[in-house]
Amino acid sequence: MSEATYHPLARSEELEEGKGRPFELEGHRIALVRHEGTVYAIDDLCPHADASLAFGPVENGCIACPWHYAEFRLSTGEALSGPTPRGIRTYAVREAEGEVSICLDLPASGDNAETSPEV
Ligand code: FES
Repeated sequence: MSEATYHPLARSEELEEGKGRPFELEGHRIALVRHEGTVYAIDDLCPHADASLAFGPVENGCIACPWHYAEFRLSTGEALSGPTPRGIRTYAVREAEGEVSICLDLPASGDNAETSPEV
């Protein structure tokens, strides 16, 4: 029903397991993170003091800010611990035919890592 637009952002092989990479899309700083095979897209901007989250350590479904270790759940953006209670935005991700695309208008929940049969 919704006409969500997915923007190609990376090739699958660019995203190593357990690591993030920073990207920019339409003025948004986005981090793509592959964790246990799934690619997550989150804001690459820590709400505490604007650090890039893309190179933070990834563990147990979470990424930690490399500056003061605020921890965010990759699937929801929820802040779990650290110096800020504010979470981050997540974006719906599609990985198909070696390409990773994200939708700026949809959060990850419910649509994350969906592989669309019609693509
Ligand atoms: S800038 Fe991320 S926890 Fe301080």
